[in-house]
Amino acid sequence: MKETIVVREPNDKEFEEVKKWVEKFWLDNDNMQKEQFRVMIYNNELAAFGRLRINDDATELCTIGVLTKFQKKGIGMAMVRSLLSSVEKEAYLVTVIPKFFLKLGFEAVKQYPKSIQKKRDLCVTQYHVDTPYEVMKWTQN
Ligand SMILES: CC(C)(COP(=O)(O)OP(=O)(O)OC[C@H]1O[C@@H](n2cnc3c(N)ncnc32)[C@H](O)[C@@H]1OP(=O)(O)O)[C@@H](O)C(=O)NCCC(=O)NCCS
Repeated sequence: MKETIVVREPNDKEFEEVKKWVEKFWLDNDNMQKEQFRVMIYNNELAAFGRLRINDDATELCTIGVLTKFQKKGIGMAMVRSLLSSVEKEAYLVTVIPKFFLKLGFEAVKQYPKSIQKKRDLCVTQYHVDTPYEVMKWTQN
């Protein structure tokens, strides 16, 4: 069978499925709006999702996930690259898996806009994990 991969805004049904995975993976579920999201549909099945949050002072990549059965096949990297293709200048993210994002051209930064600082503070206080949170920045070449 020829494989098909489509990236687009989710429909209502897909968005409901995305919300379930967001809870399952403990991802950022703050004020989720369908228009912020893109889904990757692999042979007509939801495989991955991610969102771009456009703040006044920065664009943030967040809520990125690959459904369990699709992990470790390069889909996560493809999903992030696809989200970045609509970023004009630069984007930030807060993560506990910096190694994954280093492969995608992000670099760890110590200075960042206020909205990203707020997100980092929220992660540290509300989503406590043993691994430290890093802020990373991607810049369009
Ligand atoms: C993290 C996640 C998005 C990665 O997606 P994926 O499709 O499994 O990853 P890919 O197959 O595209 O991985 C590509 C590379 O990243 C590496 N990688 C994948 N997951 C990683 C992780 N958790 N930590 C560090 N590196 C990772 C892989 O080893 C691979 O490197 P290689 O090509 O040198 O072998 C996915 O595992 C996931 O959804 N996890 C649960 C939710 C989550 O943690 N989201 C991220 C929040 S910031």
